[in-house]
Amino acid sequence: MKQNPKNFDAVIHNEEFEKEFAGKELTHQTMIYDAGRETELLSGVWHFAVDQYDMSLRSKWFLEKVKDDNGRYLPLDYDFEQWETTKVPSCWNMQKEKYFYYESNGLYTRKFKFFKKNSDERVFLKIGAASYSARVFLNKKFIGSHQGASTPFYVEITKDLQEENRIFVVVENRRKPDRVPMHNTDWFNYGGLYRDVELIRVPETFIRSFYVQLVPDTGMKKMEIRIDIDGNDVNGVARLVIEELGIDKNIKIIDGKAWEVLDAQPVLWAPENPKLYKVQLVYEKDSIQEEIGFREIKVDGTDILLNGEKIFLAGISCHEESVLNGKAITEEEIIENFTIAKEMNCNYMRLAHYPHTSKAAKIADRMGIMLWEEIPVYWSIAFENKPTYEDAENQLIEMINRDQNRASVIIWSVGNENADIDSRLEFMKSLALKTKQVDPSRPISAACCVNKVDNKIEDRLIEYLDIIGINQYYGWYDPDFGKLPKLFENSDPSKPVIITEFGGGAKAGHHGAEDEYFTEENQRCLYRTQISTMRNIKYIKGMSPWILYDFRCPRRTNPFQELYNRKGLLSEDKKIRKPGFYIMQNFYQEK
Ligand code: GCU
Repeated sequence: MKQNPKNFDAVIHNEEFEKEFAGKELTHQTMIYDAGRETELLSGVWHFAVDQYDMSLRSKWFLEKVKDDNGRYLPLDYDFEQWETTKVPSCWNMQKEKYFYYESNGLYTRKFKFFKKNSDERVFLKIGAASYSARVFLNKKFIGSHQGASTPFYVEITKDLQEENRIFVVVENRRKPDRVPMHNTDWFNYGGLYRDVELIRVPETFIRSFYVQLVPDTGMKKMEIRIDIDGNDVNGVARLVIEELGIDKNIKIIDGKAWEVLDAQPVLWAPENPKLYKVQLVYEKDSIQEEIGFREIKVDGTDILLNGEKIFLAGISCHEESVLNGKAITEEEIIENFTIAKEMNCNYMRLAHYPHTSKAAKIADRMGIMLWEEIPVYWSIAFENKPTYEDAENQLIEMINRDQNRASVIIWSVGNENADIDSRLEFMKSLALKTKQVDPSRPISAACCVNKVDNKIEDRLIEYLDIIGINQYYGWYDPDFGKLPKLFENSDPSKPVIITEFGGGAKAGHHGAEDEYFTEENQRCLYRTQISTMRNIKYIKGMSPWILYDFRCPRRTNPFQELYNRKGLLSEDKKIRKPGFYIMQNFYQEK
Protein backbone atom coordinates (compact mmCIF):
# COMPACT_ATOMS: atom_id res chain seq x y z
CA MET A 1 0.00 0.00 0.00
CA LYS A 2 1.42 3.43 -0.93
CA GLN A 3 2.11 5.32 2.27
CA ASN A 4 1.33 9.00 2.18
CA PRO A 5 1.84 10.15 5.76
CA LYS A 6 0.36 13.49 6.63
CA ASN A 7 3.09 14.14 9.16
CA PHE A 8 6.02 13.57 6.79
CA ASP A 9 8.93 15.99 7.26
CA ALA A 10 11.53 15.84 4.47
CA VAL A 11 14.38 16.94 6.71
CA ILE A 12 13.97 14.21 9.30
CA HIS A 13 12.10 11.43 7.48
CA ASN A 14 13.60 11.38 4.01
CA GLU A 15 16.25 8.66 3.91
CA GLU A 16 16.40 8.89 0.11
CA PHE A 17 17.71 12.47 0.07
CA GLU A 18 20.81 11.46 -1.90
CA LYS A 19 18.72 10.57 -4.94
CA GLU A 20 18.24 14.28 -5.52
CA PHE A 21 21.99 14.63 -6.09
CA ALA A 22 22.36 11.91 -8.72
CA GLY A 23 22.54 12.19 -12.48
CA LYS A 24 25.31 14.78 -12.69
CA GLU A 25 28.31 12.52 -12.19
CA LEU A 26 31.54 14.20 -13.26
CA THR A 27 33.80 11.58 -14.84
CA HIS A 28 36.65 11.22 -17.31
CA GLN A 29 34.10 12.17 -19.97
CA THR A 30 33.73 15.67 -18.53
CA MET A 31 37.46 16.35 -18.33
CA ILE A 32 39.00 19.09 -20.44
CA TYR A 33 42.61 19.76 -21.41
CA ASP A 34 44.02 22.36 -19.04
CA ALA A 35 47.80 22.09 -19.45
CA GLY A 36 49.37 25.42 -20.17
CA ARG A 37 46.06 27.23 -19.90
CA GLU A 38 45.52 30.43 -17.98
CA THR A 39 43.51 29.58 -14.86
CA GLU A 40 42.07 31.66 -12.05
CA LEU A 41 42.67 30.12 -8.65
CA LEU A 42 39.74 29.85 -6.25
CA SER A 43 42.19 28.30 -3.79
CA GLY A 44 42.71 30.41 -0.69
CA VAL A 45 40.56 31.13 2.38
CA TRP A 46 37.20 29.34 2.46
CA HIS A 47 34.61 28.91 5.22
CA PHE A 48 34.38 25.40 6.67
CA ALA A 49 32.09 23.31 8.85
CA VAL A 50 31.64 19.63 9.65
CA ASP A 51 28.38 17.87 8.81
CA GLN A 52 28.21 14.31 10.20
CA TYR A 53 24.45 14.01 9.66
CA ASP A 54 24.31 15.19 6.02
CA MET A 55 22.21 18.15 7.17
CA SER A 56 23.63 20.37 4.40
CA LEU A 57 21.95 18.01 1.91
CA ARG A 58 18.83 17.02 3.88
CA SER A 59 18.03 20.67 4.67
CA LYS A 60 19.50 22.01 1.42
CA TRP A 61 21.68 24.61 3.15
CA PHE A 62 23.11 25.49 -0.27
CA LEU A 63 19.71 27.16 -1.07
CA GLU A 64 20.26 29.63 1.79
CA LYS A 65 16.46 29.69 2.32
CA VAL A 66 16.16 32.17 5.17
CA LYS A 67 12.34 32.66 5.05
CA ASP A 68 9.36 30.32 4.79
CA ASP A 69 6.85 30.59 1.94
CA ASN A 70 4.97 33.27 3.87
CA GLY A 71 8.04 35.47 4.24
CA ARG A 72 8.70 34.67 7.89
CA TYR A 73 12.33 34.24 8.92
CA LEU A 74 13.41 30.69 9.72
CA PRO A 75 15.82 29.52 12.43
CA LEU A 76 18.95 28.41 10.58
CA ASP A 77 21.50 25.83 11.69
CA TYR A 78 24.27 27.42 9.62
CA ASP A 79 25.83 30.78 8.89
CA PHE A 80 28.36 30.47 6.08
CA GLU A 81 30.12 33.78 6.69
CA GLN A 82 30.44 33.07 10.43
CA TRP A 83 31.86 29.56 10.00
CA GLU A 84 35.54 29.07 10.81
CA THR A 85 37.92 29.61 7.91
CA THR A 86 40.24 27.03 6.39
CA LYS A 87 42.68 27.10 3.53
CA VAL A 88 42.09 25.34 0.24
CA PRO A 89 43.88 23.20 -0.76
CA SER A 90 44.29 21.32 2.52
CA CYS A 91 43.24 18.20 4.41
CA TRP A 92 40.91 19.06 7.27
CA ASN A 93 42.72 16.44 9.38
CA MET A 94 45.79 18.71 9.47
CA GLN A 95 43.94 22.01 9.98
CA LYS A 96 42.69 21.38 13.52
CA GLU A 97 43.48 18.68 16.10
CA LYS A 98 39.73 18.08 16.59
CA TYR A 99 39.41 17.06 12.89
CA PHE A 100 42.37 14.68 12.86
CA TYR A 101 40.36 11.44 12.72
CA TYR A 102 37.21 13.03 11.24
CA GLU A 103 35.62 10.81 8.58
CA SER A 104 32.39 12.29 7.29
CA ASN A 105 31.28 15.45 5.44
CA GLY A 106 33.39 18.59 5.35
CA LEU A 107 31.55 21.66 4.01
CA TYR A 108 33.54 24.24 2.06
CA THR A 109 32.13 27.54 0.83
CA ARG A 110 33.33 30.90 -0.43
CA LYS A 111 32.09 33.82 -2.50
CA PHE A 112 33.89 35.11 -5.59
CA LYS A 113 33.38 37.74 -8.23
CA PHE A 114 33.43 36.89 -11.92
CA PHE A 115 33.61 39.13 -14.98
CA LYS A 116 33.32 37.86 -18.52
CA LYS A 117 36.30 38.67 -20.71
CA ASN A 118 34.96 37.55 -24.09
CA SER A 119 31.31 37.32 -25.08
CA ASP A 120 31.64 33.75 -26.41
CA GLU A 121 33.94 32.39 -23.70
CA ARG A 122 33.09 29.20 -21.83
CA VAL A 123 34.09 28.64 -18.23
CA PHE A 124 34.94 25.37 -16.48
CA LEU A 125 35.39 24.74 -12.78
CA LYS A 126 38.26 22.35 -12.00
CA ILE A 127 38.77 20.61 -8.65
CA GLY A 128 42.19 18.95 -8.54
CA ALA A 129 40.99 16.35 -6.04
CA ALA A 130 38.47 15.93 -3.23
CA SER A 131 38.76 12.95 -0.91
CA TYR A 132 36.66 10.75 -1.33
CA SER A 133 33.54 12.19 -2.96
CA ALA A 134 32.30 15.71 -3.65
CA ARG A 135 29.00 17.38 -4.41
CA VAL A 136 29.37 20.83 -5.96
CA PHE A 137 26.82 23.66 -5.78
CA LEU A 138 27.13 27.03 -7.48
CA ASN A 139 24.75 29.90 -6.74
CA LYS A 140 22.28 27.55 -5.00
CA LYS A 141 22.27 25.04 -7.86
CA PHE A 142 23.61 21.46 -7.75
CA ILE A 143 26.07 21.27 -10.64
CA GLY A 144 27.81 17.92 -10.23
CA SER A 145 29.29 15.15 -8.11
CA HIS A 146 32.52 13.16 -8.27
CA GLN A 147 33.72 9.85 -6.83
CA GLY A 148 37.39 8.98 -6.29
CA ALA A 149 39.83 10.57 -3.88
CA SER A 150 42.82 11.26 -6.12
CA THR A 151 41.82 12.43 -9.61
CA PRO A 152 40.71 15.81 -11.00
CA PHE A 153 37.21 16.66 -12.16
CA TYR A 154 35.72 19.44 -14.26
CA VAL A 155 32.27 20.93 -14.85
CA GLU A 156 31.15 23.64 -17.27
CA ILE A 157 29.63 26.59 -15.39
CA THR A 158 29.35 29.12 -18.23
CA LYS A 159 25.62 29.60 -17.79
CA ASP A 160 25.65 29.41 -13.97
CA LEU A 161 28.08 32.24 -13.30
CA GLN A 162 27.00 35.67 -12.09
CA GLU A 163 29.03 38.71 -11.10
CA GLU A 164 28.72 37.68 -7.42
CA ASN A 165 28.99 33.92 -6.87
CA ARG A 166 28.91 31.44 -4.05
CA ILE A 167 30.45 27.99 -4.42
CA PHE A 168 29.49 25.29 -1.90
CA VAL A 169 31.19 21.89 -1.86
CA VAL A 170 30.23 18.90 0.29
CA VAL A 171 33.34 16.71 0.56
CA GLU A 172 32.83 13.28 2.14
CA ASN A 173 35.57 10.82 3.15
CA ARG A 174 33.71 7.96 4.85
CA ARG A 175 35.41 4.60 4.23
CA LYS A 176 32.98 2.17 2.58
CA PRO A 177 33.25 -1.50 1.48
CA ASP A 178 32.07 -0.70 -2.08
CA ARG A 179 34.60 2.10 -2.67
CA VAL A 180 38.03 2.12 -4.39
CA PRO A 181 39.85 1.71 -2.03
CA MET A 182 37.42 0.11 0.36
CA HIS A 183 37.21 0.73 4.11
CA ASN A 184 40.38 -1.21 4.96
CA THR A 185 43.75 0.16 3.83
CA ASP A 186 47.21 0.64 5.30
CA TRP A 187 47.36 4.41 5.04
CA PHE A 188 45.72 7.43 6.71
CA ASN A 189 42.26 8.43 5.49
CA TYR A 190 42.65 12.15 4.82
CA GLY A 191 39.64 14.25 3.78
CA GLY A 192 39.15 17.58 2.09
CA LEU A 193 39.57 19.78 -0.95
CA TYR A 194 43.26 18.96 -0.94
CA ARG A 195 44.34 20.09 -4.43
CA ASP A 196 43.72 23.42 -6.19
CA VAL A 197 40.25 24.69 -7.19
CA GLU A 198 40.39 26.73 -10.39
CA LEU A 199 38.33 28.49 -13.07
CA ILE A 200 39.37 27.84 -16.66
CA ARG A 201 38.18 30.11 -19.50
CA VAL A 202 38.16 28.66 -23.01
CA PRO A 203 36.78 29.97 -26.33
CA GLU A 204 33.39 28.66 -27.51
CA THR A 205 35.25 26.06 -29.60
CA PHE A 206 38.26 24.64 -27.76
CA ILE A 207 40.74 21.79 -27.49
CA ARG A 208 39.14 19.27 -25.14
CA SER A 209 41.89 16.64 -25.29
CA PHE A 210 45.37 16.36 -26.80
CA TYR A 211 47.76 13.41 -26.89
CA VAL A 212 51.26 13.47 -28.34
CA GLN A 213 53.77 10.68 -27.76
CA LEU A 214 56.09 8.47 -29.80
CA VAL A 215 54.54 5.43 -31.45
CA PRO A 216 56.03 2.28 -29.95
CA ASP A 217 57.98 -0.06 -32.25
CA THR A 218 58.68 2.59 -34.89
CA GLY A 219 62.33 3.09 -33.98
CA MET A 220 61.45 6.27 -32.08
CA LYS A 221 60.85 8.00 -35.43
CA LYS A 222 57.06 8.32 -35.46
CA MET A 223 54.94 10.62 -33.29
CA GLU A 224 51.23 10.06 -32.72
CA ILE A 225 48.88 13.01 -32.36
CA ARG A 226 45.31 12.69 -31.12
CA ILE A 227 43.08 15.78 -30.78
CA ASP A 228 39.48 16.25 -29.66
CA ILE A 229 37.71 19.55 -30.29
CA ASP A 230 34.56 20.68 -28.46
CA GLY A 231 32.28 23.45 -29.71
CA ASN A 232 30.41 24.60 -32.82
CA ASP A 233 33.31 24.62 -35.30
CA VAL A 234 34.36 21.01 -35.21
CA ASN A 235 35.62 20.99 -38.79
CA GLY A 236 38.75 22.98 -39.47
CA VAL A 237 42.52 22.95 -39.22
CA ALA A 238 44.64 22.79 -36.09
CA ARG A 239 48.26 23.89 -36.05
CA LEU A 240 50.87 21.88 -34.16
CA VAL A 241 54.19 23.63 -33.50
CA ILE A 242 57.24 21.97 -31.99
CA GLU A 243 59.74 24.57 -33.08
CA GLU A 244 62.86 22.78 -31.85
CA LEU A 245 61.90 19.79 -33.98
CA GLY A 246 61.09 21.91 -37.00
CA ILE A 247 57.46 20.82 -36.76
CA ASP A 248 54.85 23.35 -37.84
CA LYS A 249 52.03 21.19 -39.12
CA ASN A 250 48.44 21.82 -40.12
CA ILE A 251 46.23 18.99 -38.89
CA LYS A 252 42.78 18.49 -40.33
CA ILE A 253 39.99 18.32 -37.75
CA ILE A 254 37.00 16.33 -38.96
CA ASP A 255 33.89 16.16 -36.80
CA GLY A 256 35.92 17.33 -33.82
CA LYS A 257 38.64 14.74 -34.12
CA ALA A 258 42.12 14.24 -35.55
CA TRP A 259 44.50 11.31 -35.40
CA GLU A 260 47.80 11.60 -37.24
CA VAL A 261 51.27 10.11 -37.22
CA LEU A 262 54.17 12.40 -38.04
CA ASP A 263 57.80 11.74 -38.78
CA ALA A 264 59.94 13.07 -35.95
CA GLN A 265 63.31 12.25 -34.44
CA PRO A 266 63.35 14.04 -31.08
CA VAL A 267 66.20 13.90 -28.61
CA LEU A 268 64.83 11.14 -26.44
CA TRP A 269 63.78 11.77 -22.85
CA ALA A 270 65.73 9.68 -20.33
CA PRO A 271 66.60 10.00 -16.65
CA GLU A 272 70.13 11.04 -17.50
CA ASN A 273 68.85 13.56 -20.06
CA PRO A 274 65.23 14.56 -19.34
CA LYS A 275 64.82 16.49 -22.58
CA LEU A 276 61.52 18.38 -22.86
CA TYR A 277 60.15 20.18 -25.91
CA LYS A 278 57.82 23.17 -26.01
CA VAL A 279 54.71 21.91 -27.78
CA GLN A 280 52.02 24.31 -28.97
CA LEU A 281 48.63 23.45 -30.41
CA VAL A 282 46.34 26.10 -31.86
CA TYR A 283 42.77 25.67 -33.07
CA GLU A 284 40.80 28.77 -34.04
CA LYS A 285 40.85 31.03 -30.98
CA ASP A 286 42.14 28.34 -28.61
CA SER A 287 45.77 27.55 -27.94
CA ILE A 288 47.59 25.39 -25.45
CA GLN A 289 51.23 24.78 -24.81
CA GLU A 290 53.24 22.58 -22.54
CA GLU A 291 56.63 20.96 -22.08
CA ILE A 292 56.58 17.36 -23.32
CA GLY A 293 59.30 14.68 -23.40
CA PHE A 294 59.44 11.90 -25.98
CA ARG A 295 60.70 8.39 -25.26
CA GLU A 296 59.80 4.80 -25.91
CA ILE A 297 59.14 2.35 -23.09
CA LYS A 298 58.44 -1.28 -23.90
CA VAL A 299 58.89 -4.87 -22.79
CA ASP A 300 60.95 -7.42 -24.68
CA GLY A 301 60.88 -10.93 -23.17
CA THR A 302 61.94 -10.44 -19.55
CA ASP A 303 63.57 -7.08 -20.35
CA ILE A 304 62.28 -3.55 -19.99
CA LEU A 305 63.58 -1.27 -22.76
CA LEU A 306 63.79 2.51 -22.55
CA ASN A 307 64.54 3.94 -25.99
CA GLY A 308 65.63 0.50 -27.11
CA GLU A 309 68.11 0.03 -24.25
CA LYS A 310 67.67 -2.53 -21.45
CA ILE A 311 67.16 -0.73 -18.14
CA PHE A 312 66.94 -1.64 -14.48
CA LEU A 313 64.29 0.32 -12.56
CA ALA A 314 66.25 1.36 -9.48
CA GLY A 315 63.37 2.63 -7.45
CA ILE A 316 61.58 3.27 -4.20
CA SER A 317 57.88 3.38 -3.26
CA CYS A 318 56.34 6.57 -1.93
CA HIS A 319 52.96 7.63 -0.50
CA GLU A 320 51.55 11.11 -1.13
CA GLU A 321 51.93 12.52 2.36
CA SER A 322 53.91 14.88 4.54
CA VAL A 323 53.92 15.31 8.31
CA LEU A 324 52.85 18.94 7.95
CA ASN A 325 50.33 18.80 5.08
CA GLY A 326 48.99 15.26 5.01
CA LYS A 327 47.96 14.38 1.45
CA ALA A 328 48.04 18.05 0.36
CA ILE A 329 51.77 17.88 -0.27
CA THR A 330 53.51 20.91 -1.80
CA GLU A 331 55.74 21.21 -4.86
CA GLU A 332 58.72 21.72 -2.53
CA GLU A 333 57.91 18.47 -0.70
CA ILE A 334 57.63 16.58 -4.01
CA ILE A 335 60.97 17.98 -5.18
CA GLU A 336 62.47 17.01 -1.81
CA ASN A 337 61.20 13.43 -2.23
CA PHE A 338 62.58 13.13 -5.76
CA THR A 339 65.89 14.72 -4.69
CA ILE A 340 66.31 12.21 -1.86
CA ALA A 341 65.45 9.38 -4.26
CA LYS A 342 68.13 10.60 -6.68
CA GLU A 343 70.62 10.72 -3.78
CA MET A 344 69.73 7.04 -3.30
CA ASN A 345 70.75 6.59 -6.96
CA CYS A 346 67.13 5.93 -7.98
CA ASN A 347 65.98 6.47 -11.57
CA TYR A 348 62.41 5.40 -10.79
CA MET A 349 59.66 5.73 -8.17
CA ARG A 350 56.44 3.87 -7.47
CA LEU A 351 53.75 6.42 -6.61
CA ALA A 352 51.64 4.24 -4.30
CA HIS A 353 48.71 3.44 -4.05
CA TYR A 354 46.63 6.05 -5.91
CA PRO A 355 47.25 8.84 -8.46
CA HIS A 356 49.46 11.48 -6.83
CA THR A 357 49.05 15.18 -7.75
CA SER A 358 49.62 16.00 -11.42
CA LYS A 359 52.56 18.13 -10.22
CA ALA A 360 54.48 14.93 -9.38
CA ALA A 361 54.73 13.72 -13.00
CA LYS A 362 55.48 17.24 -14.25
CA ILE A 363 58.35 17.55 -11.80
CA ALA A 364 59.54 14.01 -12.58
CA ASP A 365 59.54 14.98 -16.30
CA ARG A 366 61.95 17.77 -15.45
CA MET A 367 64.08 15.87 -12.92
CA GLY A 368 64.37 12.68 -14.96
CA ILE A 369 62.61 10.17 -12.74
CA MET A 370 60.50 7.36 -14.25
CA LEU A 371 57.17 6.73 -12.52
CA TRP A 372 54.77 3.88 -11.80
CA GLU A 373 51.28 5.35 -11.35
CA GLU A 374 48.50 3.30 -9.76
CA ILE A 375 44.78 3.30 -9.00
CA PRO A 376 43.78 2.21 -5.47
CA VAL A 377 42.31 -1.21 -6.34
CA TYR A 378 43.81 -2.25 -3.06
CA TRP A 379 43.44 -5.54 -1.14
CA SER A 380 39.78 -6.72 -0.98
CA ILE A 381 37.61 -4.60 -3.29
CA ALA A 382 33.89 -5.32 -3.88
CA PHE A 383 34.89 -7.08 -7.09
CA GLU A 384 31.35 -8.31 -7.82
CA ASN A 385 29.76 -4.87 -7.51
CA LYS A 386 29.29 -3.15 -10.91
CA PRO A 387 29.27 0.44 -9.53
CA THR A 388 32.59 -0.38 -7.83
CA TYR A 389 34.07 -1.45 -11.15
CA GLU A 390 32.76 1.73 -12.79
CA ASP A 391 34.38 3.80 -10.03
CA ALA A 392 37.72 1.97 -10.52
CA GLU A 393 37.60 2.27 -14.30
CA ASN A 394 36.72 5.95 -14.10
CA GLN A 395 39.64 6.66 -11.76
CA LEU A 396 41.89 4.73 -14.15
CA ILE A 397 40.85 6.73 -17.22
CA GLU A 398 40.97 10.04 -15.30
CA MET A 399 44.55 9.18 -14.28
CA ILE A 400 45.56 8.25 -17.85
CA ASN A 401 43.85 11.29 -19.43
CA ARG A 402 45.56 13.56 -16.92
CA ASP A 403 49.12 12.21 -17.32
CA GLN A 404 49.22 10.64 -20.80
CA ASN A 405 51.64 13.28 -22.13
CA ARG A 406 54.10 12.82 -19.25
CA ALA A 407 57.29 11.07 -20.44
CA SER A 408 58.16 10.22 -16.81
CA VAL A 409 55.08 7.99 -16.48
CA ILE A 410 56.22 4.62 -17.83
CA ILE A 411 53.89 2.12 -16.13
CA TRP A 412 50.17 2.12 -15.34
CA SER A 413 49.24 -0.14 -12.44
CA VAL A 414 45.74 -1.50 -11.98
CA GLY A 415 46.11 -2.37 -8.31
CA ASN A 416 47.88 -3.81 -5.31
CA GLU A 417 47.89 -7.08 -3.36
CA ASN A 418 44.56 -8.56 -4.36
CA ALA A 419 43.71 -12.22 -3.70
CA ASP A 420 43.63 -14.30 -6.89
CA ILE A 421 39.89 -15.10 -6.86
CA ASP A 422 37.63 -15.32 -9.91
CA SER A 423 35.78 -12.03 -9.32
CA ARG A 424 39.08 -10.17 -8.90
CA LEU A 425 40.47 -11.69 -12.06
CA GLU A 426 37.41 -10.55 -14.02
CA PHE A 427 37.54 -7.06 -12.48
CA MET A 428 41.28 -6.47 -12.97
CA LYS A 429 41.51 -8.17 -16.36
CA SER A 430 38.88 -5.67 -17.53
CA LEU A 431 40.90 -2.81 -16.07
CA ALA A 432 44.06 -4.10 -17.77
CA LEU A 433 42.35 -4.40 -21.15
CA LYS A 434 40.79 -0.95 -20.73
CA THR A 435 44.24 0.50 -19.94
CA LYS A 436 45.66 -1.04 -23.13
CA GLN A 437 42.76 0.35 -25.12
CA VAL A 438 43.05 3.89 -23.73
CA ASP A 439 46.87 4.04 -23.82
CA PRO A 440 48.69 1.31 -25.77
CA SER A 441 51.96 3.23 -25.45
CA ARG A 442 52.84 2.18 -21.90
CA PRO A 443 53.29 -1.23 -20.22
CA ILE A 444 50.77 -2.19 -17.58
CA SER A 445 51.36 -3.90 -14.27
CA ALA A 446 49.97 -4.56 -10.80
CA ALA A 447 51.60 -5.35 -7.46
CA CYS A 448 50.70 -9.01 -6.98
CA CYS A 449 51.03 -11.25 -3.92
CA VAL A 450 53.28 -14.32 -3.86
CA ASN A 451 51.54 -17.71 -4.17
CA LYS A 452 52.33 -18.53 -0.53
CA VAL A 453 51.24 -22.17 -0.71
CA ASP A 454 53.75 -23.10 -3.40
CA ASN A 455 56.12 -20.18 -2.65
CA LYS A 456 56.26 -19.00 -6.22
CA ILE A 457 55.44 -16.04 -8.45
CA GLU A 458 52.05 -17.12 -9.74
CA ASP A 459 48.83 -15.15 -10.25
CA ARG A 460 46.23 -15.56 -12.99
CA LEU A 461 46.25 -11.77 -13.53
CA ILE A 462 49.84 -11.97 -14.85
CA GLU A 463 48.52 -13.13 -18.23
CA TYR A 464 47.05 -9.64 -18.73
CA LEU A 465 50.07 -7.69 -17.49
CA ASP A 466 53.18 -6.63 -19.39
CA ILE A 467 55.30 -6.40 -16.24
CA ILE A 468 54.83 -8.53 -13.10
CA GLY A 469 54.85 -6.58 -9.84
CA ILE A 470 55.50 -8.72 -6.77
CA ASN A 471 55.30 -7.68 -3.10
CA GLN A 472 57.25 -10.03 -0.81
CA TYR A 473 58.01 -9.53 2.87
CA TYR A 474 60.40 -12.34 3.72
CA GLY A 475 62.34 -11.35 6.82
CA TRP A 476 59.37 -9.38 8.12
CA TYR A 477 55.79 -10.68 7.91
CA ASP A 478 57.26 -14.09 7.08
CA PRO A 479 60.42 -14.26 9.20
CA ASP A 480 61.70 -17.35 7.33
CA PHE A 481 64.32 -15.82 5.07
CA GLY A 482 65.08 -19.29 3.73
CA LYS A 483 61.96 -19.04 1.59
CA LEU A 484 63.30 -16.03 -0.31
CA PRO A 485 65.84 -17.78 -2.56
CA LYS A 486 63.37 -20.63 -3.01
CA LEU A 487 60.71 -18.16 -4.23
CA PHE A 488 62.95 -17.27 -7.15
CA GLU A 489 64.10 -20.85 -7.75
CA ASN A 490 60.46 -21.97 -7.88
CA SER A 491 59.48 -19.26 -10.34
CA ASP A 492 60.04 -19.01 -14.06
CA PRO A 493 58.29 -15.83 -15.25
CA SER A 494 58.22 -15.07 -18.98
CA LYS A 495 57.86 -11.34 -18.33
CA PRO A 496 59.98 -8.78 -16.47
CA VAL A 497 59.50 -8.77 -12.69
CA ILE A 498 59.63 -5.69 -10.48
CA ILE A 499 59.84 -6.38 -6.76
CA THR A 500 57.25 -3.70 -5.98
CA GLU A 501 57.59 -4.06 -2.22
CA PHE A 502 59.91 -5.57 0.33
CA GLY A 503 61.15 -4.09 3.60
CA GLY A 504 60.79 -3.92 7.35
CA GLY A 505 60.13 -1.42 10.08
CA ALA A 506 62.65 0.49 12.14
CA LYS A 507 62.25 3.43 14.47
CA ALA A 508 64.95 5.89 13.42
CA GLY A 509 67.61 6.09 16.13
CA HIS A 510 66.43 2.94 17.92
CA HIS A 511 69.27 0.44 18.25
CA GLY A 512 69.55 -3.16 19.40
CA ALA A 513 70.34 -6.68 18.24
CA GLU A 514 69.79 -7.68 14.60
CA ASP A 515 66.97 -10.00 15.59
CA GLU A 516 65.17 -7.24 17.50
CA TYR A 517 62.28 -5.87 15.40
CA PHE A 518 62.08 -2.10 14.88
CA THR A 519 65.80 -1.58 15.46
CA GLU A 520 67.98 -0.02 12.80
CA GLU A 521 70.17 -3.13 13.04
CA ASN A 522 67.22 -5.31 12.13
CA GLN A 523 66.39 -3.19 9.08
CA ARG A 524 70.06 -3.27 8.02
CA CYS A 525 70.17 -7.07 8.28
CA LEU A 526 66.87 -7.41 6.40
CA TYR A 527 67.98 -5.19 3.52
CA ARG A 528 71.39 -6.87 3.28
CA THR A 529 69.76 -10.29 3.09
CA GLN A 530 67.12 -9.17 0.59
CA ILE A 531 69.66 -7.55 -1.75
CA SER A 532 72.23 -10.35 -1.53
CA THR A 533 69.48 -12.83 -2.47
CA MET A 534 67.90 -10.81 -5.27
CA ARG A 535 70.92 -9.15 -6.86
CA ASN A 536 71.60 -12.04 -9.24
CA ILE A 537 68.05 -13.01 -10.18
CA LYS A 538 68.12 -12.38 -13.92
CA TYR A 539 64.40 -11.70 -14.44
CA ILE A 540 64.22 -9.04 -11.73
CA LYS A 541 64.32 -5.82 -13.72
CA GLY A 542 63.35 -3.37 -11.02
CA MET A 543 62.72 -2.76 -7.32
CA SER A 544 60.72 -0.25 -5.30
CA PRO A 545 61.32 -1.18 -1.63
CA TRP A 546 58.63 -0.19 0.82
CA ILE A 547 59.03 2.82 1.41
CA LEU A 548 60.89 6.14 1.08
CA TYR A 549 59.82 7.53 4.47
CA ASP A 550 57.60 6.56 7.42
CA PHE A 551 53.94 7.47 6.91
CA ARG A 552 50.84 7.86 9.08
CA CYS A 553 48.98 4.61 9.64
CA PRO A 554 46.50 4.40 12.55
CA ARG A 555 46.69 0.58 12.61
CA ARG A 556 50.33 0.67 13.72
CA THR A 557 50.11 1.12 17.49
CA ASN A 558 53.23 -0.30 19.15
CA PRO A 559 55.52 2.18 20.98
CA PHE A 560 58.07 2.22 18.14
CA GLN A 561 55.36 2.93 15.55
CA GLU A 562 53.31 5.64 17.32
CA LEU A 563 50.61 5.35 14.61
CA TYR A 564 53.21 5.42 11.82
CA ASN A 565 54.21 2.67 9.44
CA ARG A 566 57.95 2.57 10.13
CA LYS A 567 59.18 0.76 6.98
CA GLY A 568 60.53 4.04 5.66
CA LEU A 569 64.20 4.33 4.69
CA LEU A 570 63.90 7.75 6.30
CA SER A 571 62.00 9.00 9.35
CA GLU A 572 58.60 10.60 8.66
CA ASP A 573 60.13 14.10 8.70
CA LYS A 574 62.82 12.88 6.28
CA LYS A 575 65.50 14.20 8.64
CA ILE A 576 67.03 10.82 9.59
CA ARG A 577 68.24 8.21 7.10
CA LYS A 578 68.06 4.62 8.24
CA PRO A 579 70.42 1.76 7.19
CA GLY A 580 68.16 0.64 4.34
CA PHE A 581 68.79 3.96 2.60
CA TYR A 582 72.55 3.35 2.37
CA ILE A 583 72.20 -0.29 1.37
CA MET A 584 69.91 0.65 -1.53
CA GLN A 585 72.14 3.62 -2.42
CA ASN A 586 75.16 1.31 -2.74
CA PHE A 587 73.25 -1.40 -4.61
CA TYR A 588 71.80 1.08 -7.11
CA GLN A 589 75.23 2.67 -7.50
CA GLU A 590 76.41 -0.63 -8.97
CA LYS A 591 73.45 -0.74 -11.31
C1 GCU B 1 51.58 -4.10 1.86
C2 GCU B 1 50.88 -2.92 1.20
C3 GCU B 1 51.35 -1.60 1.72
C4 GCU B 1 51.55 -1.71 3.22
C5 GCU B 1 52.73 -2.63 3.43
C6 GCU B 1 53.00 -2.86 4.92
O1 GCU B 1 52.33 -4.76 0.95
O2 GCU B 1 50.99 -2.92 -0.21
O3 GCU B 1 50.35 -0.64 1.43
O4 GCU B 1 51.82 -0.45 3.81
O5 GCU B 1 52.48 -3.91 2.88
O6 GCU B 1 52.41 -3.78 5.45
O7 GCU B 1 53.75 -2.08 5.48
